[in-house]
Amino acid sequence: PLVSSTPMLQAARAGGYCIGAFNVHTLEMLQAVVEAAVETESPLIIQSTVGTVKHLGPDYIAAAATVASNANRIPIALHLDHCTEFDLIVRCIRAGYTSVMIDASHSPFEENVRQTLKVVEVAKPAGVNVEAELGKVGGVEDEIVVADNEALMADPDECAKFVELTGVPTLAPAIGTAHGIYKGEPKIDFERIGRIAGLVDVPLVLHGGSGIPEEQVRRAVSLGMAKMNVATELRIVFSDAIKAVFAKNPEENDPRKYMVPAKQALKEAAIEKMRLCGSFGKA
Ligand code: 13P
Ligand code: ZN
Ligand code: NA
Repeated sequence: PLVSSTPMLQAARAGGYCIGAFNVHTLEMLQAVVEAAVETESPLIIQSTVGTVKHLGPDYIAAAATVASNANRIPIALHLDHCTEFDLIVRCIRAGYTSVMIDASHSPFEENVRQTLKVVEVAKPAGVNVEAELGKVGGVEDEIVVADNEALMADPDECAKFVELTGVPTLAPAIGTAHGIYKGEPKIDFERIGRIAGLVDVPLVLHGGSGIPEEQVRRAVSLGMAKMNVATELRIVFSDAIKAVFAKNPEENDPRKYMVPAKQALKEAAIEKMRLCGSFGKA
């Protein structure tokens, strides 16, 4: 069965490693990250954005993730990424999601506390993990767009107060990463990660995982980042493999002929992220 991501993330923070959380949009993408995790004995968080939940339906996604969790020994959690709608969070929990993100980071602090608390109150009794965001992660993630000049770093004292007021079990503080591929290198505020981790003992979540150089990922993880979200890079790898098939054979019309190489490419990319996370053998 699917498990809550809270214990696996607490173990990761305590153990100084990180768990890859991968956004998937199709059955093959889900299978690819599962195969990557099984092969490397990594704990796994499968994620879907609100857009994908609306596209596929939460029940289909939860069913596929449940099959994967029943068929393998590794712990697998299913997470709803960047959700701003309370009703959809409840629907996903009912469908079988074991982790949800309430993203009220666009709202003032008090409103973020209020909305997060409301989600914690329904999720905790159901044994479901909750993630909230403080500050604003820049870039484009599905339906959420934050311009560079609107991105905002999380304040460490606010993080401490937020966790105390909401009891949220995992926190995503904005510390300089962004959704999408960076133009240059990300400007991560490591000192800020350290200060937040010093004040807050819950596992921290690193958003914007695509395009962060290996050294920076390792440093962020060593400071307390216990979950790394990866979306854009995986979509690119998967789509590029499909494009390569059609470039070679524009007449191809057997979905397996382009899905199999796409799945393989995605699996390899996910394994590489799990290596950066240090999650090999932690399942
Ligand atoms: P990337 O698209 O940069 O990998 O960010 C993913 C993310 O943070 C999903 O919540
Ligand atoms: Zn994100
Ligand atoms: Na990114």
